[in-house]
Amino acid sequence: MKRRNFIQKTALSVAGFGLAPLIGNSYQSVYGATAPSNKVKVALIGCRGMGYSDLSTFLKYPEVECIALCDVDDEWLNKRAADVEKATGKKVKNLYKDWRKVIENKDVDVVIIGTPDHWHCLPTIYACQAGKDVYVEKPLSNTIEECELMLKAARKYDRVVQVGQWQRSDPHWNEAAAFIREGNIGRVRTVKVWAYQSGKPTLPVKPDSPVPPGVDYDMWLGPAPKRPFNIYRFHYNFRFFWDYAGGLMSDWGVHLLDYALEGMGVGLPSKVFSGGGKFAYPNDAMETPDTLMAIYAYDDFNIVWDHACGIDHGLFDRREALAFYGENGTLVLDRGGWEVIPEYSGKEARMEAVPLKKGEGKGLYNHVGNFLDCMKSRNRPAADIEIGSRVAILSHLANISCRVGREVRWDEANHLFVNDPEATALSKAVYRAPWKLPQF
Ligand SMILES: NC(=O)c1ccc[n+]([C@@H]2O[C@H](COP(=O)([O-])OP(=O)(O)OC[C@H]3O[C@@H](n4cnc5c(N)ncnc54)[C@H](O)[C@@H]3O)[C@@H](O)[C@H]2O)c1
Repeated sequence: MKRRNFIQKTALSVAGFGLAPLIGNSYQSVYGATAPSNKVKVALIGCRGMGYSDLSTFLKYPEVECIALCDVDDEWLNKRAADVEKATGKKVKNLYKDWRKVIENKDVDVVIIGTPDHWHCLPTIYACQAGKDVYVEKPLSNTIEECELMLKAARKYDRVVQVGQWQRSDPHWNEAAAFIREGNIGRVRTVKVWAYQSGKPTLPVKPDSPVPPGVDYDMWLGPAPKRPFNIYRFHYNFRFFWDYAGGLMSDWGVHLLDYALEGMGVGLPSKVFSGGGKFAYPNDAMETPDTLMAIYAYDDFNIVWDHACGIDHGLFDRREALAFYGENGTLVLDRGGWEVIPEYSGKEARMEAVPLKKGEGKGLYNHVGNFLDCMKSRNRPAADIEIGSRVAILSHLANISCRVGREVRWDEANHLFVNDPEATALSKAVYRAPWKLPQF
């Protein structure tokens, strides 16, 4: 057996049965080495929603070829196979229901992971181990423990891992963050960050039902606890259930809070207090809070997160955005662009207003392009896994504070909660057998 096959087969058995730790070193990416056409050969795991938006964007780059699709739901697997064929004129060679086949396929250079959050970790780690580069959706994963392990794997196997926080590649976000860091709005005391989303309305309680034909539901659950099938805990709506995701806090939080950190030039805070609950829809099916506010306390400023499901009127008439409150002006930033509203001393403005500077609206396209460039240069991508890990942990800290009902203290140097077994327990990934979190 050739060395590469051996490693792949071993990795697969590890992934499948979770009995052994990760082994050995990965081989280098095969990108460009084996393909006469020098195509970047991409596979998508998780085809329905954002995963397909990502793949469609990859396919806008002529060097990309999709050689495999994987989904546990035949309906979406077949639909996306037809979509890719229509878009490219070529049939996708490999259709899988088990993601381990993607890892096993030695022709795959890049794995795009568009599965629900609880299924980001293992495919990322095993793809890294198999020498593939990874484009994984945000939030990086569903627990603090997984975030840290994924980062370790990416570094250990020296892989390029881009997280789907595509604002990182939309130039107006970095422009606004630099404007703040250069001191243009003066000293900032408060950063407000919010997501008010009528598009995430109440989820009525629906009875459990039989698994739809063509769905491998056990594989959809994967490492999450066994539960009967329910249409409101499945596609898209998984976001509102703790076993699979972290609600609006981690769904939108990671996109926006990333730029709160970036604008302020800081890492994780040591103190977090968060309060919230099912204030709008106390009796609906959602587990995660429909309303939540979190204070991230730093030495001389606060970052305040505020979310609401089912209503749209966020501050400054924006559904989701950030506002940096400086002594000279307030900078408001969202996907549409950024502007500064000056403060006044009497009738005199403390700084010139900055009228709305519109974004280019090409964030996702640029983000994929940046990833493809980094595959070649081996540089760290715009939303490198360390960036994705940091902000996913930031959002988990607020969810954990809300769940334990009090302030939590985070020791960033040692990556742990301070004297807090209850919060620590919620930071861990508890996997259902045979799935097992690799340790290395
Ligand atoms: N970057 C962004 O702007 C953005 C936008 C939306 C969603 N997302 C992220 O994308 C991810 C997916 O969200 P969505 O709304 O597209 O979800 P979705 O439910 O629409 O799609 C997930 C797909 O993954 C499949 N799947 C589940 N488990 C699988 C497994 N083990 N193997 C193979 N396929 C599996 C499902 O069948 C489904 O087709 C989430 O992490 C979400 O936070 C990112």
